[in-house]
Amino acid sequence: MDVKALFYILLLLFTISSAEDVLLNVKGVTNIATTDNNFICATLDWWPENKCDYNQCPWGKAGILNLDLGNRILSNAVKAFNPLRIRLGGSLQDQIIYQFGSHIKRCPNMIKIAGGLFGFSKGCLPQNRWDQVNDFFNKNGVKLTFGLNALIGKNISKVDNKSFLGDWRPANAISLMKYTISKGYKIDSYELGNELCGEGIGARVDSVQYAKDITKLRSIVNRLYPDVTTRPKVVGPAGFYDREWFDTFLHNVRPGVVDGVTHHIYNLGAGVDKELINRVQDPYFLSQIGQTFKDVAVTVRQYTPRAGAWVGEAGGAYNSGGKDVSHTFVNGFWYLDQLGMTATMNHKVYCRQTLIGGNYGLLNTTSFIPNPDYYGALLFNRLMGPKVLSISHEASHYLRTYAHCSKNGPGITVLIINMAKTIFNLSIMNDMNKQMREEYHLTPKDGNIQSDVVLLNGTPLMLTRSLDIPLLKPVLVSSSSPIKVDPQSIVFVQLKGFNAPACV
Ligand SMILES: *[C@@H]1O[C@H](CO)[C@@H](O)[C@H](O)[C@H]1NC(C)=O
Ligand SMILES: *[C@@H]1O[C@H](CO)[C@@H](O)[C@H](O)[C@H]1NC(C)=O
Ligand SMILES: *[C@@H]1O[C@H](CO)[C@@H](O)[C@H](O)[C@H]1NC(C)=O
Ligand SMILES: *[C@@H]1O[C@H](CO)[C@@H](O)[C@H](O)[C@H]1NC(C)=O
Repeated sequence: MDVKALFYILLLLFTISSAEDVLLNVKGVTNIATTDNNFICATLDWWPENKCDYNQCPWGKAGILNLDLGNRILSNAVKAFNPLRIRLGGSLQDQIIYQFGSHIKRCPNMIKIAGGLFGFSKGCLPQNRWDQVNDFFNKNGVKLTFGLNALIGKNISKVDNKSFLGDWRPANAISLMKYTISKGYKIDSYELGNELCGEGIGARVDSVQYAKDITKLRSIVNRLYPDVTTRPKVVGPAGFYDREWFDTFLHNVRPGVVDGVTHHIYNLGAGVDKELINRVQDPYFLSQIGQTFKDVAVTVRQYTPRAGAWVGEAGGAYNSGGKDVSHTFVNGFWYLDQLGMTATMNHKVYCRQTLIGGNYGLLNTTSFIPNPDYYGALLFNRLMGPKVLSISHEASHYLRTYAHCSKNGPGITVLIINMAKTIFNLSIMNDMNKQMREEYHLTPKDGNIQSDVVLLNGTPLMLTRSLDIPLLKPVLVSSSSPIKVDPQSIVFVQLKGFNAPACV
């Protein structure tokens, strides 16, 4: 036997038999941050079928104008959150005219054109489609954030062909709102524009001008919705954090204008990047974006403390996500870590790009079957309450942990993400809990981290015969044994008897 073979056998033996003991330190006296009750959010987008990146067209019929709203899996998947936040918006929203108001007769589809913003022409939202979409949302209890076209009325600058100048013209949005109110459709929030802040992506708007525009939106919303108890929130600017732009914007809005400061996260690089699969498993890489979350939270607290910081859109990898990564088990290392991290940084809402569409859908674009991150989101939504607790340990950086007061019932729930190839035996410091623990272990099918199928406590999660979301049942484990965390797994643990005064 050569030395190399011997080395590998020893390594194998070592990895199989070793489990590292880890002590978790949860501080249950006070909470360190608070999320909204409906923290989990997913997006729907406007992309048509012929939106393609890297010789691939991953949107299919998942864009809002094409989506099959009668699909049973879709409504069951949405209903399971009871309620789910959905943000409807994206790159093309600033090119959409709504078929409301007397002057809009033709309602053309958007088409691919050279020189168009993001390669597409202007398009139109037909009135009957808005009816269908709202019927679906209202029937399935969706809390909707609707992204309005912020470029109407503005002219493109001849200097840079990118800046849009002049005031936002709200007439078309007012027509949409009046119709929406007359039909009794509920809107949770209106958002103004998409990715127009900072340098902008396809287009940009100056921060002082944007402050003026969103102040106008606020006064329109207050006028059209006189009842404050049902009045939609106003959120923006729905783009990438840029310190100077955000500071000037927030400096120029009065208190009470903005309820949520929305920003976007694509920290993993391009969907086609070969490094994507490594980045989602690299704790040092994943932590880098933490500073942005902190900066946004600090800026919001400084300028507009009654508003909350929201991640309004986060797909991880841009240009529709990564073909073999973003819909698979391994993407959960990034996604659930983001949920934990942003909650800790006092963010109120986190919208995952997408509910369906692109390579990063929580649901498969064509079959609508839930991907692993769907179940991660659902468990987070059911178990992790709005109060966030401090948790720490001294072990590997590949072991990430987050703790919240439980959403329903007493005690706390801990989220454990194990990106390492080793087993960890976890125990919690000062845990006097004598009750059985409820554990939810998520692992990939066949140990393949690029699988679209996730196991819960060893059993594949599959739709029931009636196309319902399966029950997500925990295993009960004695409080006297440690929490055994498998290599490359994600675990939620509910400890009902954990003494956390913050959670009472
Ligand atoms: C980890 O826990 C398991 C199950 O209780 C136990 O068999 C094993 O000996 C523990 N390993 C270490 C290193 O504590
Ligand atoms: C802006 O676009 C026009 C027409 O397409 C072109 O002639 C001009 O050179 C562009 N200017 C800049 C600064 O890119
Ligand atoms: C935009 O262009 C229109 C038509 O050319 C013009 O009437 C209007 O004054 C322009 N607005 C601004 C802000 O430049
Ligand atoms: C959808 O499922 C098909 C068939 O299993 C798979 O090839 C594709 O990658 C999946 N796409 C997404 C976005 O989930």
